[in-house]
Amino acid sequence: MFARRIAVIGTGYVGLTTGACLASLGHHVVCADVDVAKVERLRAGKVTILEPGLAELVAEGQAGGRLEFVVGAAAAVGDAEVVFLCVPTPMGQGGAADLAAVESVISEVRTILPVGSIVVNKSTVPVGTAARVSNLLKRKDVPVVSNPEFLREGTAVHDFLNPDRIVVGCDIQDAAERVAALYSRLGAPTVLTDAASAEMVKYAANCFLAMKLSYVNAIAELCERLGADVADVTEGMGYDRRIGQSFLQPGPGWGGSCLPKDTQALLQVAAAVGYDFSLLQATIDTNTHQRQLIVAKIREAAGGRLRGRRIGLLGLAFKAGTNDLRDSPALAVAALLRAEGAELTGYDPGIDQHVDGVRVVSDPYEAAKDADTVVVLTEWPEFRGLDWTRVGELAAGSVVVDTRNHLDPDALRRSGLTWWGVGRGHLDLGQDLAAVI
Ligand code: UDX
Repeated sequence: MFARRIAVIGTGYVGLTTGACLASLGHHVVCADVDVAKVERLRAGKVTILEPGLAELVAEGQAGGRLEFVVGAAAAVGDAEVVFLCVPTPMGQGGAADLAAVESVISEVRTILPVGSIVVNKSTVPVGTAARVSNLLKRKDVPVVSNPEFLREGTAVHDFLNPDRIVVGCDIQDAAERVAALYSRLGAPTVLTDAASAEMVKYAANCFLAMKLSYVNAIAELCERLGADVADVTEGMGYDRRIGQSFLQPGPGWGGSCLPKDTQALLQVAAAVGYDFSLLQATIDTNTHQRQLIVAKIREAAGGRLRGRRIGLLGLAFKAGTNDLRDSPALAVAALLRAEGAELTGYDPGIDQHVDGVRVVSDPYEAAKDADTVVVLTEWPEFRGLDWTRVGELAAGSVVVDTRNHLDPDALRRSGLTWWGVGRGHLDLGQDLAAVI
C-alpha cells in the first residue's frame, strides 16, 4: 500500500477517528479544526471524546510523526493528495441537512487545493451533495468522492479498523479507486459506485436500523400486553439469518447523533421528490411513542402520578460507552418526567456536566437515595454489578424500571426489589389472554 498525504477537516468524533486510524494505517495525516483551543488540546495529546483506543492511536500517530493538528482547513490542505470533509452537517430547518460548514470549508480551500487532489465527503450529507460540492469547487481537476462512515459511537476505532464494508462513490472511477486504496490494508468488502448511490447507502442503512429498532420496540409492547417475553422472541427471530441478532434490543427509543438526524433528512428528501415515505414516518412516530410508553411505565411504578415523585435515573447518554448526550432517549424521557413534575437525580459514568432539569450526581447510590423509583435508561455494564441490596435500602420505593432489559431480574428479586423490564410481561395480562382474544 502506498502511504498518502491526507488532510482531515473537522476533529469531531468522525474526523478524529478517521485521522487517527488513517495515520495508524501508515498515511501522513494533517487534521484541521477551527476551534483553536481544541487544536491546542489535541497537540498536547488530550482527547476529550470517550472512544476506546482513540487517545492511544492519537498518541501513536503523533509520536510516529504521521499525525498533526493545525488550525483552519487552509493550513492542512497545502500538499494533500486527499482531503476528507468531516465537519458537522446538523439537521437544518424542516429536517434537511444544513451544509453551511461544508460550504465554508470549500470556499476556504477551493483555490489552494493541489492540482489533481481529491475531496472526500465523509459526513452524512443528502444525496446530490457531492455534485453540489463539485459545483462550489469549480475545479475540474479535483474530483469529489462520497465515502460515508459507518462508525458507531463507543466502538468507532474498532469499526473503522474492522469495517463490514467500505463504500466509495464518485462519477470518476479512478478517483473512487484511489480513495478505496487508502483502506486496502483492511481487506474489507468494497463497494465502488457513483456518488449519489454512495450517499444513499448511508441513509438507507441508518433508516433501516431505525426501522428495525422501532419495530422491535413495538413488538416489545405487544409482548408485554400479550404476556410474551420479548427476549425469547427476539432470540428466536435473530437466528433467521435474514434478520440477524443485532439491533434487536428494545429500549427507551433510539437516539444519538445519527439516527434521528438521518431519518428526518431522508423523509425530507423523499417529500422533496414527491414520495410519501409513510414507513419512515411511522418509524419516527413509533420512537416518539416509545418514550411516552416508558414514561407511563415509570408513572405506574411511582404509584400512578409523577408530580413531586423522586426518580433516580441511571444513565443519561444515548447509549453505553459514550459521553454523548445528543438526542439521547434518556434525556427525552427525563424531559417528559419533568413536565409531569417529577424530581430527577441522575447518574451516568460518562457524564459530569450540567443537564437541564436533572440533578447530576457522581455516584449511582446517590441517584438511588430516597428515589420513589429507580430507572435504568442507558445500558452501562457497571449497572449490572451494583450492590442492589444497598440500592434497595437507600431508595424509598422498591420498583426498578429497567428500560433496556439490562439487569438480572433474579438478582434484583433476591435484593428485595421488583424488576420491571420492557416487553417481558410485568402487567400480567397474559393470565387473561384467553378472555381478551
Ligand atoms: C449509528 C449507526 O449504527 C452507525 O452505523 C452510523 O454511522 C451512525 O449512527 P450510533 O449513533 O453511534 O451509530 O449508535 P448505535 O449503536 O447505532 O445506536 C443508536 C441508538 O439505538 C442508540 O440510542 C442505542 O441505544 C439504540 N439501540 C441500538 C437500541 O435501542 N437497541 C439496539 O439493539 C441497538
